[in-house]
Amino acid sequence: MTADGEGGGEKSKFRWLDAARYEVAAAVTVLIMAVIVNAVKVVLRPDSLQLSVDKGSIFTAQYPPQLIMELKLRAQNPSGQVRMFYVSVTGYLFDNTTSASASLDPGYDSVVIFKPKDMAVVQQEALDCSLGMKVVREKQMDPSHFDVLYNGSSFSDMTLRLDGDLITEVTSELNMTRRTTYYCEELLVGGNGDDEAFKYRQDAICKQRRATN
Ligand SMILES: *[C@@H]1O[C@H](CO)[C@@H](O)[C@H](O)[C@H]1NC(C)=O
Ligand SMILES: *[C@@H]1O[C@H](CO)[C@@H](O)[C@H](O)[C@H]1NC(C)=O
Ligand SMILES: *[C@@H]1O[C@H](CO)[C@@H](O)[C@H](O)[C@H]1NC(C)=O
Repeated sequence: MTADGEGGGEKSKFRWLDAARYEVAAAVTVLIMAVIVNAVKVVLRPDSLQLSVDKGSIFTAQYPPQLIMELKLRAQNPSGQVRMFYVSVTGYLFDNTTSASASLDPGYDSVVIFKPKDMAVVQQEALDCSLGMKVVREKQMDPSHFDVLYNGSSFSDMTLRLDGDLITEVTSELNMTRRTTYYCEELLVGGNGDDEAFKYRQDAICKQRRATN
């Protein structure tokens, strides 16, 4: 009886050891999985392209009978490993009475449309893209906004929404493409870039939202 009891004790001790071993093995497996998943994430989803609008402003000038609009977009690639591209981009400028993110028809809801050039940004570099456009009254911009800007006044709270394809070059043979939208908010639109008012304005960092798919 005593022997049985001891034997049982020995057995359960071994069972406990086995269970502990399984637990350690499981924990190690989970750890290895986590390391692999993170490594894949780092390769496939490195820090993303960062966009900003220089001085948080879009400048305007009269070019009778047109209005000239100018801005500088800065694209920064924080990744040390991959090249990034932002291509097929359309920019929509919204005034503060319309939600840039809720709009399902930005071409219709926005004040004016920009067509930025494709951007290619190498590892850990920044690229400045100057954007200029001549705007015709009524054709490209409704009179209520056009007249304010044409007459030299400004809007203090506009949002530039950028819709484009963000391409990450994972390897020299593999590109990952994602439809990506950026929102550059609280832009000052209107006025001459040499004005004192613009001198100390900070760049507007654009917020990114990836399409869910
Ligand atoms: C603003 O500009 C328009 C032309 O776009 C002109 O007809 C109008 O008189 C101007 N208004 C003011 C207040 O200067
Ligand atoms: C929207 O913009 C206009 C023109 O810049 C400004 O007068 C108004 O106060 C703004 N409204 C809000 C809610 O920020
Ligand atoms: C990735 O996309 C860029 C931009 O479109 C292109 O220049 C490059 O050749 C592509 N690379 C691959 C491997 O397809």
